[in-house]
Amino acid sequence: MFKFLKLKKDDSKLADLIFKETDRQRRTLDLIPSENFVFSSMLEAIGSPLMNKYSEGYPGKRYYPGNFYYDKIEKLAQERARKVFNLNKNWHINVQPYSGTPANIAIYLGLLNFNDKIMGMKLSAGGHLSHGHNVSFSGRGYKVVHYGVDLKNGFLNYTEIEKLAKKHKPKMIICGATAYPRIIDFQKFSQIAKKVGAYLLADISHIAGLVAAKIHPSPFPFADVVMTTTHKTLRGPRGAVIFCKKELGEKIDKAVFPGLQGGPHNNTIAGIALAFHLAKSKNFINYQKQILKNAGTLAKSLKNFGFDLVTGGTDNHLILIDLKNIGINGFEAEKLLERAGIIANRNTIPSDVSAFRPSGLRLGTPALTSRGMKEKEMKRIAFWIYQILILKKSPEKIKKEVEKMAIKFILPGIDE
Ligand SMILES: Cc1ncc(COP(=O)(O)O)c(C=O)c1O
Repeated sequence: MFKFLKLKKDDSKLADLIFKETDRQRRTLDLIPSENFVFSSMLEAIGSPLMNKYSEGYPGKRYYPGNFYYDKIEKLAQERARKVFNLNKNWHINVQPYSGTPANIAIYLGLLNFNDKIMGMKLSAGGHLSHGHNVSFSGRGYKVVHYGVDLKNGFLNYTEIEKLAKKHKPKMIICGATAYPRIIDFQKFSQIAKKVGAYLLADISHIAGLVAAKIHPSPFPFADVVMTTTHKTLRGPRGAVIFCKKELGEKIDKAVFPGLQGGPHNNTIAGIALAFHLAKSKNFINYQKQILKNAGTLAKSLKNFGFDLVTGGTDNHLILIDLKNIGINGFEAEKLLERAGIIANRNTIPSDVSAFRPSGLRLGTPALTSRGMKEKEMKRIAFWIYQILILKKSPEKIKKEVEKMAIKFILPGIDE
């Protein structure tokens, strides 16, 4: 059990806030699909003295002395990442990006010129801000064409995407999403990219754990560049990894450092090495399978209670509820559930025109699966959501039941 004893002595105010937040995590149900709980070994690796060192550059080519062990650790992270996704030496791997957004920006910086055209998924359809949204650098430094999903069924429509690509001829097509509950057909995206001579970037930040466990098709046979964050289904530290075809490696490395970043966060790189080590275990594969089972059960139960799901269900770790038929918006739903200790975020649904009052609620199962919850708990959670959002029961009453269930499960990292 992590006790933060020294922190309490040095800074009791901060220690108190961390204690309280840890307690909040224990007593609530985290259904945010991009969040997870790391193991205590991960907290040890990322809280280690590795954070003391500067090592700008890459293994064997550093701008500082004293990097003997950092070279070994960075290479270990790269080689373990290669093994997890079964990649041969034709793939180059960069484990230094600070997080997913800077990793995407580094990819654009490395492979494109400013004002080149990129084509990514619309935010309202489930794409990420860093895929060309106008509030992000990606939408300001580059010309952007956005594709959406079929408004009738919520699925990607590859015929439409191809038409759009042929019309606009982007230099890079980005596939991958932050709120898309279905399988992404990377082969189809690659065929489209090839037809228009575009690079294909697959952003698998959300689904990397599923891909590693081979329960979601892999983008590696089809994409030129694959990017993933390491803190979502991969259950590692907050960071990101870029995989690219060998011939693009130098451009990507130069874009990450010195193009965009300074010294790498060595403690995070050690955490990434550990995450990929753990991802080779049988436990990890079973964990990923349970994430899917839990999402399937949660989706089915919500549907049975009358909720309308975008695409009618899920193939992956997340679910998007369209709240229009029950007469509340995503913001109201998020707040009501939070009062009960159920943490799920508001989200746009494909037909939304504005992101300010989105009509959807996004739910995911990676974090609760890490706490050991299974189908039985998913059914109870669906029932509570139904009681609060449809039957309009008092969230404060449900909160007691939520807490009673939540504290029965360990908080990984803290209770192990
Ligand atoms: C698909 C996708 N790409 C990139 C990112 C950005 O990652 P970060 O928040 O680490 O910058 C996210 C984050 O949610 C994401 O879902």
